[in-house]
Amino acid sequence: MNRNFYIKSYGCQMNLLDSQLAAGILTQEGYLPTDDPSQAGVILVNTCAVRGHAEQRALGRIRDLLRYKENNSRVKFVVMGCMAQRFGEELFKLAPGVDIVTGPDSYRKLPGLLENLDHSPIVSLKLNSEESYSKVVAQREKGISAFVSVMRGCDNFCSFCIVPLVRGRERSRPPEEIAAEVRTLVTQGFKEVTLLGQNVNSYHWEGTDFPSLLWRLNQIEGLGRIRFTTSHPKDLSPSLLEAIQGAGKVCEHLHLPLQSGSDHILKRMNRGYTLKDYLRIVEEARRIIPDLALTTDLITGFPGEKEEDFQRTVEVMKEVSFDSSFSFKYSPRPGTKAAGFADDVPPQVKAERLTVLIELQRRITAKRNQALVGTTQEVLVEKRGKLPGQLYGRTRTNKPVVFPAQKGAMGKTLKLKIIKAKGWTLFGKL
Ligand code: SAH
Ligand code: SF4
Ligand code: F3S
Repeated sequence: MNRNFYIKSYGCQMNLLDSQLAAGILTQEGYLPTDDPSQAGVILVNTCAVRGHAEQRALGRIRDLLRYKENNSRVKFVVMGCMAQRFGEELFKLAPGVDIVTGPDSYRKLPGLLENLDHSPIVSLKLNSEESYSKVVAQREKGISAFVSVMRGCDNFCSFCIVPLVRGRERSRPPEEIAAEVRTLVTQGFKEVTLLGQNVNSYHWEGTDFPSLLWRLNQIEGLGRIRFTTSHPKDLSPSLLEAIQGAGKVCEHLHLPLQSGSDHILKRMNRGYTLKDYLRIVEEARRIIPDLALTTDLITGFPGEKEEDFQRTVEVMKEVSFDSSFSFKYSPRPGTKAAGFADDVPPQVKAERLTVLIELQRRITAKRNQALVGTTQEVLVEKRGKLPGQLYGRTRTNKPVVFPAQKGAMGKTLKLKIIKAKGWTLFGKL
């Protein structure tokens, strides 16, 4: 049997980390990773279900990769992740040739499923609110920055969102385990960790909440930086802001999804905060952490979004002046609360509003980044730049900086003078 496996990953950072966990589980059982699907005996596609478009892309890729099976019928084909959880057996019809469909809480079973696969396809979709992949060693490529999961699942049920349905109930990992993983990463040469959870602000394990976890990890010797995502505004506490301000390794960046600037829409989204609450947090955060970078997510064309609702979002964007934002057209997700609302904003209008937000953000980003020209920034050097002779790193505020290569700079934190800003990228020199 060919024990080489190839994984293609879609979706968010959590999904990427899940692919690394699945790779760890398979490697433990004697499988070997490969970058070349034509050499693989097992092909896995880790899918995302957050919007219809994400599913279409994954499905397209699944069908592409299934061609390797035409040449070699012994190839075993696995569809995993959020879309697998949502579609289940239906995937065997949508993509004939798929052998195993497995959801986010079933990856420990992968080796067994592969062993037992004879001729009939298998689904393994049980969600398990105890599963946090304790003791599984993620298989990461060597590098400077690593993802570390602090929790899985989500209990918020924002009305548009599929995540609670496909990833199940929220569960946190014990702080000792997280700290041990981070210490191991440091011995492997990693300098930065990004702590992941759908809503890190509701992390809790016995007496430890998220800010205390940050303080604890801040003491790990040899670790340079701590980042985290995502923060839900409704659960953000003043002690989180204190940790960002006071814990030296925790970077000055908050990704704080707003979704909409209109209270009536926020309410229908079941977000649990008003615009006033949100603006109060922003004001407080910027008062306590003067250098803070703020980023957000926005949705255009949510059911019932009138022109005046949209204009509120535009005004808030100007008022808050985010460093960057991700905007999406609303996509109805079967099984969610909002799927029961009339999807009444025409596609054309959703798209126009999206363009307005993207264009506005482009101007705001350019202006904010321009203001950094002439300043000195601490940059953690992560990898080579796109062009030869360049290196790439990020500021504490998570902005990419490209600069002329220096010997021995990889993994170091350098003080760089910013000499130019172009789009989202900054250019620096020593
Ligand atoms: N847990 C994170 C977000 C996960 S999904 C959080 O709470 O912020 C990432 C982003 O996708 C969301 O912030 C939202 O802006 C967008 N999104 C989620 N469901 C969507 C849908 N049905 N249509 C369009 N965008 C959606
Ligand atoms: Fe989805 Fe809301 Fe949970 Fe984020 S907090 S994953 S948007 S339900
Ligand atoms: Fe992530 Fe997509 Fe699942 S955003 S949680 S992979 S639905």
